[in-house]
Amino acid sequence: MELVKLDMLYEGKAKKIYTTNITNQFIVTYKDDATAFNGEKKGSIGEKGVVNNKMSAILFQLLSEKGIENHYISLLNEREMVVKAVKIIPLEVIIRNVVAGSMAKRLGLEEGSPLKTPVLEFCYKNDELGDPLINDDHIMALQLADLTQIQQLKQMALNINKVLQQFFFNKELRLIDFKLEFGLFEDRIILADEISPDTCRLWDLTTNEKLDKDRFRRDLGNVEEAYKEVLNRIMN
Ligand code: TMP
Ligand code: ASP
Repeated sequence: MELVKLDMLYEGKAKKIYTTNITNQFIVTYKDDATAFNGEKKGSIGEKGVVNNKMSAILFQLLSEKGIENHYISLLNEREMVVKAVKIIPLEVIIRNVVAGSMAKRLGLEEGSPLKTPVLEFCYKNDELGDPLINDDHIMALQLADLTQIQQLKQMALNINKVLQQFFFNKELRLIDFKLEFGLFEDRIILADEISPDTCRLWDLTTNEKLDKDRFRRDLGNVEEAYKEVLNRIMN
């Protein structure tokens, strides 16, 4: 059956999700729009949608090959992919290998300090509240996930970190930290959302040059070039 795009189900800051004529499949459209600081800073990054669509497709395929189930099905065109219709769990799962961003600020640590073991953080996905940091007890009390699901989320996120860290290292990139979102599909927890320079901090392995959304957040310039550089490296 030919896939037909139907109604827009949801519009986020960087993507739109559409229902389709196939009940368990959605279409994701990646936008060039960029925001930071919970939408306070707004802009656009040239060709970001194209880069993030392609890069997410490559990384989701890599993770599938490593046995980590995710929502990716196929690329539809330059800016769109077909995905499994998951119900998103309203949690942001952050993994950190090196101190940066909000962790540096919150704990008064120097950005760039390596962490002895990866740090996993949960944030409650809620724009009005600015995605506050929460812990396992909040998650259970708010019934966002049960204990087994929390353990599964943690295990999956740490496994994903191992795969991505090695992959990026081979491309001369350091995976500093990243954010994941998961969803429920046929009662299983699977990886969803995107994996891109919007959602990962990636530094050049030798120079530590920032090649991710921090260039936009911090007005460092050459934002589009950085996104394209990351895509070029992972495609070669
Ligand atoms: P943070 O240091 O600002 O908490 O960000 C940690 C990681 O999560 C970083 O790789 C960027 C990513 N991230 C998102 O994908 N979306 C967000 O809204 C925020 C704040 C961070
Ligand atoms: N995407 C987030 C926002 O606008 C923040 C970020 O990525 O820094 O709120």
